[in-house]
Amino acid sequence: MEYSMKHIRIAMFTLFLFATTGVGLAEASQNVSLVYFGNLNGELEPCGCAEESNLGGIRRQAYIVGEWRKKHPELVLISTGGLLTSEIASDRTKSEYIVKGISAMNFDAVGIQWRDLAYGNEFLRVAPVPWVSSNSQKTGFSASQTVQRKNLQIAVLSWLEPGDAGAMAMMESAPEVSPAAVQKKLSDAKTKGMLTVLMTTLPLADAEKQFKLSDVDVLLVRPVDENYATPRLKNGTLILQPGTRGMRIGSVDLTLNEKHKVTKFEPTVMKLPADVPDAPELDGWYKDYTAALKEDYLRRVEIRKTLNEGNTDFVGAEGCQSCHAKEHEIWGGTQHSHAFEKLEAVGKIFDPNCVGCHSVGYDKPGGYIDPSLTAGLQGVQCENCHGAGRAHVESGGTKPLPNKDWEPVRMCGQCHVGSHSPSFAFDKYWPKIKHEKQ
Ligand code: HEC
Ligand code: HEC
Ligand code: HEC
Ligand code: HEC
Repeated sequence: MEYSMKHIRIAMFTLFLFATTGVGLAEASQNVSLVYFGNLNGELEPCGCAEESNLGGIRRQAYIVGEWRKKHPELVLISTGGLLTSEIASDRTKSEYIVKGISAMNFDAVGIQWRDLAYGNEFLRVAPVPWVSSNSQKTGFSASQTVQRKNLQIAVLSWLEPGDAGAMAMMESAPEVSPAAVQKKLSDAKTKGMLTVLMTTLPLADAEKQFKLSDVDVLLVRPVDENYATPRLKNGTLILQPGTRGMRIGSVDLTLNEKHKVTKFEPTVMKLPADVPDAPELDGWYKDYTAALKEDYLRRVEIRKTLNEGNTDFVGAEGCQSCHAKEHEIWGGTQHSHAFEKLEAVGKIFDPNCVGCHSVGYDKPGGYIDPSLTAGLQGVQCENCHGAGRAHVESGGTKPLPNKDWEPVRMCGQCHVGSHSPSFAFDKYWPKIKHEKQ
């Protein structure tokens, strides 16, 4: 139903375009706008810990795609895959919602990378996505996707690079079709006058060795950076390299000749900072995602409760106050003591991706569990840096704290890392929270 509606809208838009611009039919049919993404790497949304890293997220991507579709209803939307992550238990839930979110964005083709197969092939069918995996029949996904735009047909293929034997042994889907067979598909498509798009995680030099690029009109190579590389034409093949982690969105408007080779291209890359709105059509999806995370989290609380009975090494900052009133007062005036409130303000106190650095001893015996059981362990406290203090307290301060021999910078490095604190420098940060005796 929706499909045909879309086509009616496209037809009307085209008529309008001809009437107002006078662009001829033959010419118009040979332009195509390609919107492309690379390795999302499990970034469903940015953490928002710092302004500089508050970029990206599926809801912002979907919003921009929606806006661009208003201008170019026929734009072609593809992803090289590499969407999912599988590092901590809750990543499964996150990955499930990434697939659903991608499904809602109506992609034309989405490649499959090894990381996408971490939960098995069936997992990727939780929602309809036009997956493409050109050299693995065992995955059961299409070997190519054909995208039709007016009288232009686009063949999208994706090469799953064998390389990683460990990953292949784990997955059910070792590639069993050679580059030559994929090459044949590409040259057949070219013979039929199609525009050919090949996606791969190979770098350009290796892709050139494996494939004859004269059959490839658009090649998407391995992304290496958060930013998009500048597209370029090489011997008639347009080389695209998307950015990682969904922080930006890129498109190229292509002009094609009669053989449907790219003759001209106009690239656009947009950043996705916090002032890009969230796509309203994903509101329900996002609510469900947050609820699913909470449910996951609470299930784990039950497990931890039984593990933790009678086993609390952490005392909380209140337990240090009586003997270290001065340090306690200084700490109370720092952002650390409010770190949990910041999570509350963004509705993330049940997200295990966040709680660890915003509470004391999360995931450790006797550490933070949830607001009802361990309210005293919210925020960044003394024991995040000095280690669990029970033995020190009960010995009247004679037993040293577990982290006594840690370099201060190592303490900070538990949390002030990467995108969570991009401008961290010990010399700049320590003076703001400093409390050594002197
Ligand atoms: C009953 C009193 C008492 C309590 C409660 C107490 N301390 Fe101490 N703490 C001491 C004494 C005494 C020393 C040794 C002081 C000195 O030599 O200057 C000490 C030393 C320290 C030191 C420096 C030596 C080291 O082992 O690194 C740190 C850090 C410290 N305490 C942190 C804490 C923290 C964190 C808490 C709460 C978890 C806490 N203390 C609770 C009495 C206490
Ligand atoms: C690896 C540790 C770590 C994780 C995980 C983490 N944070 Fe943070 N967060 C930090 C640090 C460190 C800062 C302080 C950054 C700075 O000022 O340099 C911070 C700051 C914040 C702030 C305050 C920003 C401000 O402008 O005041 C918010 C809100 C926040 N984080 C939310 C989150 C959310 C939501 C998640 C999960 C998606 C998360 N954090 C996960 C370490 C972490
Ligand atoms: C963000 C990490 C961090 C937090 C939070 C923190 N401290 Fe410290 N603390 C340090 C560092 C780093 C030092 C300096 C250690 C050094 O210079 O070797 C220090 C020094 C101390 C000392 C003095 C040790 C000495 O011998 O000079 C005491 C006592 C102490 N902290 C107690 C506390 C108490 C009590 C709290 C909570 C109310 C607290 N700290 C919170 C990191 C932290
Ligand atoms: C357990 C995780 C954790 C550790 C360990 C940690 N921090 Fe933080 N830090 C945070 C979080 C989370 C915030 C954000 C708090 C907020 O904005 O409410 C933060 C904020 C700060 C800020 C405030 C930033 C600002 O712009 O005002 C400073 C300064 C800071 N940390 C210094 C340090 C230093 C220095 C160390 C090591 C001695 C350290 N932190 C260790 C988690 C941590």
